[in-house]
Amino acid sequence: MRVGRILCVANQKGGVGKTTTATNLAVGLAKGGQRTLLVDLDPQCNATTGLGAVPAPVHPLVTEGPLSAALVATGVERLALLPGSRSVRDVERLAAQARAGSLVLETHLAGGLGAWDYCLIDCPPSIGDLTRTALAGSTEVLMPIQCEYFALEGLSQMIEVIRDVMDEKPGRLRFGGIVLTMHDDALDLTREVEEEVRDFFGEIVFETVIPRDVAVSEAPSHARSVLDYAPRSPGARAYTELCMEVRDCE
Ligand SMILES: Nc1ncnc2c1ncn2[C@@H]1O[C@H](COP(=O)(O)OP(=O)(O)O)[C@@H](O)[C@H]1O
Ligand SMILES: [Mg+2]
Repeated sequence: MRVGRILCVANQKGGVGKTTTATNLAVGLAKGGQRTLLVDLDPQCNATTGLGAVPAPVHPLVTEGPLSAALVATGVERLALLPGSRSVRDVERLAAQARAGSLVLETHLAGGLGAWDYCLIDCPPSIGDLTRTALAGSTEVLMPIQCEYFALEGLSQMIEVIRDVMDEKPGRLRFGGIVLTMHDDALDLTREVEEEVRDFFGEIVFETVIPRDVAVSEAPSHARSVLDYAPRSPGARAYTELCMEVRDCE
């Protein structure tokens, strides 16, 4: 059994494009021939419902059973989904596992899920225990940053948590990259934020930026990724390019 790259999509802020990026990257990688698993770790379950699946009554990561039994088909070849759960109790149990230093996610990924080339984890908008456990089980962290005012505010806390996890397990987790989302070329603000982020983070910022595109925001209500909903849209093209960049930076 082999798991390839495990990408944790995290940012403590909500609404920055985590779910959109995790979902569209997962779909793009699968379409590109990679066996891909999308794990929904957010109790809001947007990644689950956005692909037309139903949240699980109990989060598969807190059940004793094999995770393979909890996987859901997505309608996209080679892409499986581990659905999220809205249960607050489950979230607390997952968080407690994380606090106890349990490697549930990692163990499941390594043992129970078969062979995946890529696993993408959609995190909740917090730097709490769930995000921490996801980071601890991942090989890379991808951070979407929205091209808005205050884009960098609060990120130092997030980076501190990432550094903590990196220190706990040297050599395991690396910074996979920063994705600029909801980018609008016509806005001075976008250009200012992009410059600031590239100055601050340097080469870990992906060259590809994700444009603000209504097709991207409409796609989940059609239970599809933007790659299927509007394949020729600027958003779909950008996510396809981002997939190539992610694949290249192995
Ligand atoms: N590139 C984009 N263009 C337009 N709307 C977007 C884009 N990316 C995300 N959105 C919309 O912004 C909102 C927040 O995105 P989401 O991925 O759910 O963020 P998060 O998971 O970080 O909370 C959603 O309504 C989503 O459809
Ligand atoms: Mg989300």
